[in-house]
Amino acid sequence: MTSTFTPVPPGSGAGAPPAPPAVVATEVAKVYGSGDAAVHALRGVSVSFAKGAFTAIMGPSGSGKSTLMHCLAGLDTVTSGRVTLGEVEITGLGDRRLTLLRRERVGFVFQAFNLVPTLTAEQNILLPLELAGKKPDRDWFDQVVEVVGLRDRLSHRPAELSGGQQQRVACARALVSRPEVIFADEPTGNLDSRSGAEVLGFLRSSVREMGRTIVMVTHDPVAASYADRVVFLRDGRIVSELARPTPDAVLDQLKALGG
Ligand SMILES: Nc1ncnc2c1ncn2[C@@H]1O[C@H](COP(=O)(O)OP(=O)(O)OP(=O)(O)O)[C@@H](O)[C@H]1O
Ligand SMILES: [Mg+2]
Repeated sequence: MTSTFTPVPPGSGAGAPPAPPAVVATEVAKVYGSGDAAVHALRGVSVSFAKGAFTAIMGPSGSGKSTLMHCLAGLDTVTSGRVTLGEVEITGLGDRRLTLLRRERVGFVFQAFNLVPTLTAEQNILLPLELAGKKPDRDWFDQVVEVVGLRDRLSHRPAELSGGQQQRVACARALVSRPEVIFADEPTGNLDSRSGAEVLGFLRSSVREMGRTIVMVTHDPVAASYADRVVFLRDGRIVSELARPTPDAVLDQLKALGG
């Protein structure tokens, strides 16, 4: 199986200057705890994510994938190193500016969904807009809800939804404010293959057609093959990369990494 699409970042036509990357990490280290109990979750990660590109992050459990995503999105502090989002270095920002920047420019699909239990699916999806004081674009909301297949579940609370449905609410919530960058931590981990393919197709078309930037953690070689590029982590370091991944090529790489 080979991928047939050729990713062309917006503005990369002949003569156009290359677009600056959407997200850059420079020598990012993250240590949890201290002394004997210290866990070196990231050990100097430098990586750049182009605007309008769909990148997958893979690696064994505990290799630092979620930690890296949280640091890139400004949800966690780094121990050392720098993260830049667009033209803004977020590692130097105070909490208030960071919160505003995240709200404006970043969407996040958490590994554990992080839905608000007392709100309905619809309220959860619209929460980022609510927080930003923006009016929802009803057409776009409908389109997102249609793709993730939640039309008949909008009035349910998370506890009344299956794991896969909760995950779809989390995906819809990340998409609805049309953020520049979407970070998704295993967005299809709980979905059956059909809903998974729909969500991945939707993520990919939001990159192709709307110039979004997506960074997605996944354990699934088929999910990774929707991306333009795969970055492999092991023990808190980037150990390899694959451009235009196919499921087979990803599987080979994972085998080679022992993950
Ligand atoms: N809050 C924390 N305190 C202490 N250690 C942590 C914390 N969060 C993560 N770790 C440790 O950091 C390392 C990297 O964790 P991380 O969650 O980034 O892994 P991961 O690659 O996302 O794994 P998985 O595929 O299982 O989700 C692990 O050894 C983990 O135990
Ligand atoms: Mg994780």
